[in-house]
Amino acid sequence: MQKTWFRELSVYQIWPRSFCDGNGDGIGDLKGVLGKLDYIKSLGVDAIWFSPLYASPQKDYGYDISDYRAINPEYGTMEDFKAVLDGAHARGLKVVMDLVINHTSDQHEWFKKSAAGDPKYKDYYIWRPGKGKDGKRPPNNWQATFPGPAWQWNEERGEYYLHLFAVEQPDLNHDNPAVREEVKSIMRFWLDMGVDGFREDVITYISKREGLPNGFPTPVMCGQEHYSPGPNIHNYLLEYRQVLKDYDAFQLGEAPMMTPKNALKYIKEGEGQQLDMMFQFQHMSADCFVISYLPTGFSLRKLKKVFRRWQKKMYGVAWNTNYMENHDQPRVISRYGSEEMRTESGKAIATIYTFLSGTHFVYQGQEIGMLNYPFKDWNDIVDVASFCAKDLMEKTHLFSAKRIFRNCAYASRDNSRTPVQWSAEENAGFTTGTPWFHVNPNYKEINVAAEDGDPASLLNYYRKIIALRKQYKEAAVYGRYKEYAKCSGKLYVYEKIGDDGTRLFVAANMSRKTVSAAPVKRVIPKGAKRLAGTYDGSLAGRMRPYEAHVYLVEK
Ligand code: NOJ
Repeated sequence: MQKTWFRELSVYQIWPRSFCDGNGDGIGDLKGVLGKLDYIKSLGVDAIWFSPLYASPQKDYGYDISDYRAINPEYGTMEDFKAVLDGAHARGLKVVMDLVINHTSDQHEWFKKSAAGDPKYKDYYIWRPGKGKDGKRPPNNWQATFPGPAWQWNEERGEYYLHLFAVEQPDLNHDNPAVREEVKSIMRFWLDMGVDGFREDVITYISKREGLPNGFPTPVMCGQEHYSPGPNIHNYLLEYRQVLKDYDAFQLGEAPMMTPKNALKYIKEGEGQQLDMMFQFQHMSADCFVISYLPTGFSLRKLKKVFRRWQKKMYGVAWNTNYMENHDQPRVISRYGSEEMRTESGKAIATIYTFLSGTHFVYQGQEIGMLNYPFKDWNDIVDVASFCAKDLMEKTHLFSAKRIFRNCAYASRDNSRTPVQWSAEENAGFTTGTPWFHVNPNYKEINVAAEDGDPASLLNYYRKIIALRKQYKEAAVYGRYKEYAKCSGKLYVYEKIGDDGTRLFVAANMSRKTVSAAPVKRVIPKGAKRLAGTYDGSLAGRMRPYEAHVYLVEK
């Protein structure tokens, strides 16, 4: 098995708009990040992944880029970015940029020129004439991820363009070699500046089937069998991979609907490998029916099944990523834990995923146990995806308006996009101005300052287990996975076995009930040393709600 620096990373994700405001305009920015680098370092993480910092009209909060080589003025300047990059590197933190190349903003110069028919840019996007007698029917029946038709009529050009996300996010045409050259040049621009890797947004969507045939009629994402993946995906990714040959950097591809079997087509070690690792989504459906807008309640069995599958299938041949939150997912304690037992369930969740093999990710605010926001009505919500989900549910006539709002409030990406709660001061210490988005009213209790000084806090627990993951990396990062009590709906028990003979045992009661510890006691060898856990003290006869432990057996 390859052992490389990027496999060992714990990465801290920053969604810049809500991280920290350094200039008092109510919007998170790079000056704010600069002031928090020591805090990030104090977590024991090794890298920062920035959600898009680039110039953007912010229709999808940065995932709609209007200039790949400029910093969004709301976040600062290129000089500010360089200061953050240098400051991170000086502290031994790597920096990972988001590379969003499936689509741009409709405000990108390329798109404006393409719409105007400029010969150089006319094929940069996916344009098609309308169908039907009046030419006003979309070219096919595809639906976007943010539900709704995937085609938008453009008056200037007199054609439709494809957008697999929002209307303002036209898809780039990667079949055009000139577009691929642009992508490579953008990658080089940031790598030359010194960044250490890319998280590549919906990268498995960039190739579309020739002829753009109609999709199998499904209520959501109709047509996805023609681009997820498309026929040229592996060739294009191999081409982009060449860029990295000249740099010590890595590529992480975001891959919706990915299965372990298909993942190996991209990340299997050896000749033909196109990406170093992927973000898959399967473990993010343990509380819902396929998509989080259809919540079902948390099922530990579902979660374990996904972890088990990925741990086993990637072992020795490819590399996993392990995350429980990001800017697209509601807060995990509100989903898989208990808001009433926030610290306990937060620790249990942290424990079960931190010792899985793979590169480790923590999303801003996750480390202090931030919770979903108590949205009251639609006026509280800003995320485009939530409104699209609302429209879709309304069209089915299956749900009451109240139910639709409840589902969307639970699943909205806005939950993870509220400002980070730094202190009990006004606006949670996020800004001295007016925050661009709601601060969760629980900030007086849940904030970094309060948790920093409390040895029993979730924040200090994250610090502890991130350090343990590193200290026992042969088992934690690279070890073989062996699971026990597989059928239990309450207990999650596994062992990680390192090549150096180190064994780590992770056991958690992931429920609100007290349960017998017998299945765990049978597994943990006598003399094993307890390294960490939710509560003080070793395992007794019963496991309290969200009681978790990490035990070590050294060779
Ligand atoms: C995935 C990103 O994580 C998400 O935030 C974004 O809306 C879509 N891709 C489109 O770029």
